[in-house]
Amino acid sequence: DIKGFTFDLDGVITDTAKFHEQAWHALATELSLPFPDELARQLKGISRMDSLQMILDQGDKSYTDDEKANFAARKNKHYVTLITGLTPNDILPGMFDFIADIKQKGYVASIASASKNAPTILKQLGLTDYFIGIVDPSTLAHGKPNPEIYVKAGELLKLAPQQIIGLEDASAGVKAIQDAGQTALGIGPAVSQDNLQLWFADTASVTLDNIKQKLTQ
Ligand code: G6P
Ligand code: MG
Repeated sequence: DIKGFTFDLDGVITDTAKFHEQAWHALATELSLPFPDELARQLKGISRMDSLQMILDQGDKSYTDDEKANFAARKNKHYVTLITGLTPNDILPGMFDFIADIKQKGYVASIASASKNAPTILKQLGLTDYFIGIVDPSTLAHGKPNPEIYVKAGELLKLAPQQIIGLEDASAGVKAIQDAGQTALGIGPAVSQDNLQLWFADTASVTLDNIKQKLTQ
């Protein structure tokens, strides 16, 4: 039986992708690099340094590790200013009700986000107390689609993988959940091709009743 949930953050609980995109776009422009829409999509769920590398790969200059660390820090500084305005109103439709409902019914939840800013974001959304823990991405050897982050998020719940549903909006995350042995719940168009028993068009459709209904189908 399902007893807990592991949550991706960006694109599942709130839409910070637009802020990541804005901050990376500004950096790319400073470096005279193109920033096509397709690249913005590919960056979802990708760690900070891997995202930077994908942006730098649009050009042919090579940079030292120090320069790269400096670019990433600049982007993050910009990003952090963009998220200071986040409030509980920025929780995606239906997600507050879902998170409150599972807590009230005794399910446990943890966060499996690649973002080092996840604790700040949860605090601004007023959601910190709804989660048992947040995986610290700086402890990870591999990013999604490697299952490590979901394995750790499951350990925080002290549950077996079979007792856990993981929520994701990106294919790399869905694969990470599945390879961690948890049941993947995919949300949105980016994961509609992933052949999931639990697929929802949008966050507003994610309810315990709808999940139970799909699981018994
Ligand atoms: C999430 C976002 C990515 C972001 C990554 C790292 O996975 O979807 O776009 O690059 O977190 O975020 P951070 O806040 O640590 O730079
Ligand atoms: Mg996401």
